[in-house]
Amino acid sequence: MSEPRQILVTSALPYANGSIHLGHMLEYIQTDMWVRFQKLRGNQCIYVCADDAHGSAIMLRAEKEGITPEQLIANVQAEHSSDFADFLVDFDNFHSTHSEENRELSGLIYARLRDAGHIATRSVTQYFDPEKGMFLADRFIKGTCPKCAAEDQYGDNCEKCGATYAPTELKNPKSAISGATPVLRDSQHFFFKLPDFQAMLQQWTRSGTLQDAVANKLAEWLDSGLQEWDISRDAPYFGFEIPGEPGKYFYVWLDAPIGYMASFKNLCARRPELDFDAFWNEGSKAELYHFIGKDIVNFHALFWPAMLEGAGFRKPSAVNVHGYLTVNGAKMSKSRGTFIKARTYLDHLQPEYLRYYYAAKLGRGVDDLDLNLEDFVQKVNSDLVGKVVNIASRCAGFIHKGNEGVMVAGDAATELTEAFLAAAPSIADAYEGRDFGRAMREIMALADRANAWIADKAPWSLAKQEGKQDEVQAICAQGINLFRQLVIFLKPVLPVLAADAEAFLNVAPLTWNDHLSRLENHQLNPFKALMSRIEPAKVEAMVAASKEDLLAAEAKAPAGNGELAKDPLSAEIEFDTFAAVDLRVALIVKAEAVPGADKLLQLTLDIGDERRNVFSGIKSAYPDPSQLEGRLTMMVANLKPRKMRFGVSEGMVMAAGPGGEEIYLLSPDSGAKPGQRIK
Ligand code: MSP
Ligand code: ZN
Repeated sequence: MSEPRQILVTSALPYANGSIHLGHMLEYIQTDMWVRFQKLRGNQCIYVCADDAHGSAIMLRAEKEGITPEQLIANVQAEHSSDFADFLVDFDNFHSTHSEENRELSGLIYARLRDAGHIATRSVTQYFDPEKGMFLADRFIKGTCPKCAAEDQYGDNCEKCGATYAPTELKNPKSAISGATPVLRDSQHFFFKLPDFQAMLQQWTRSGTLQDAVANKLAEWLDSGLQEWDISRDAPYFGFEIPGEPGKYFYVWLDAPIGYMASFKNLCARRPELDFDAFWNEGSKAELYHFIGKDIVNFHALFWPAMLEGAGFRKPSAVNVHGYLTVNGAKMSKSRGTFIKARTYLDHLQPEYLRYYYAAKLGRGVDDLDLNLEDFVQKVNSDLVGKVVNIASRCAGFIHKGNEGVMVAGDAATELTEAFLAAAPSIADAYEGRDFGRAMREIMALADRANAWIADKAPWSLAKQEGKQDEVQAICAQGINLFRQLVIFLKPVLPVLAADAEAFLNVAPLTWNDHLSRLENHQLNPFKALMSRIEPAKVEAMVAASKEDLLAAEAKAPAGNGELAKDPLSAEIEFDTFAAVDLRVALIVKAEAVPGADKLLQLTLDIGDERRNVFSGIKSAYPDPSQLEGRLTMMVANLKPRKMRFGVSEGMVMAAGPGGEEIYLLSPDSGAKPGQRIK
């Protein structure tokens, strides 16, 4: 036996300002499956992650919610942790970049880089918001595109014509935070001298650490010459102040990857057998793998190895890059209900269904992966329920009925036994190489053979014949042994199914090498259904609920526009735009909860000459909807009707407040008449 490997694995640190969705889960699930495979094989494998808690986006969101950034990141960390746990993503540690370990390590790495001459300082001229008193990142500046004159474009590119430019080229620039006209101001910035590491990176990116497609992409950057990287931001900023540089903070992307080390360090304090230095010092024998999405390659395959090298730490063994998730062939969409949060999925479906589907579709490449919801139902039902679980449910009953649950000894199908043993190394290779799709295909091919063999032997017919009991028992014991091997092979993907199967099989937790042995003269526990089929109605309900999430978000935004609500910009509009909105006084004739919708009320509104049906995401504030009946409110009467699962919504009522229980429906003074225009 070879020595067990020491492996440290990470997934990218999710931003602490939003919910986890099924796109994120593609990454955490694949990393978790790889880690579970390593553990099953007997390697020492440690999986760490953390919330990425710094940056101006988090600072501004906390401000908007009227809480401190520390409160915001604590709330989000609790939400993220339970989402991951419920998807069976089993981190050894889930920490935060806003931690003491990370502050120390960031300071240490910075000091080492500075002392080695890899930090430069120079003055940078940037837009500054005089009202808010802060420098503005490109996405917090909006203005008119210098190329096509489209209004309301971001500071670095135009969504209309695709032009890219410097924020200073924008016409009529405005701060997206305060609306003020920004002014140019100079400030001293700190730079990491990435070009110092050109030769090392040229070599490192081509040394088997990256998939070819990724290395080729990086070669384009490397060939055109690397730039120094701006690693400082001026106060106010939520992050770590640079030691010895008051008012200067580390840019979030400087301390984010150091968060991998910090999370591991935090774990070392609880797990004495782990030695931080043995994993991180130059020349470490441990392996280090980062799993990331294709959008953050430059941070992980250029800046990060250069920082590690410059600070005297080891570099990653590999950076494993995956593509993006699409749903039903398109980018996840809030209006189509395919922007599905982790929690919304979990409210309707079992985590292992998705884990298996992702596994079945994941390869080694960086291609995008499509979650086709029809295919999802079909594949999970046919493979997991129809093939794998079916073997056990076909065989268990005969063993319990005919032999008091004891599996007889002997090998009733040596060819099949051989085939299963022979397939194991190839399945292990596929897992090791992250070719989960190939692993699943090989496992299902074995399941097909096992089912075909059982169907051919037809123990259910033999059981009705005289003197065939021994044969029935031999077939069914063989079936259960094959099932047990499939469970071992699938255990990294389906840990709950595996645990339930272990309980039925009456065995200790299975490890990879257990596939080499068989159960003989072995007592089984009673068989319980191990997995049920996905009902398509559950998938439909999940999609409908995802649309509802969007409505709730709209309800939170008094402006009535989900996108605007997230955007810190209150853009100025022309008078004509305002005048085009048909605002009316409306009498709430009827207000009812909508069966099957958590957040919606159905309102019948009288606007004088007609009645309107409106769905509104305000139920959390008005749990007893009848209290709204007879009350006047204000509505947007010329909003395009919108078809929803529950019916057509013909307008929108106006409310104030942050959401949840704090939603305040607006009302005119008494005396106003239904249908009157609001001007
Ligand atoms: N905070 C940074 C990572 C810092 S790592 C030192 C970040 N966070 S993120 O929340 O935006 O993304 C976390 C991970 O999820 C990234 O690897 C990202 O590529 C991945 N994904 C986010 N949306 C995704 C899809 N729609 N599909 C697949 N992966 C996706 O980036
Ligand atoms: Zn343009």
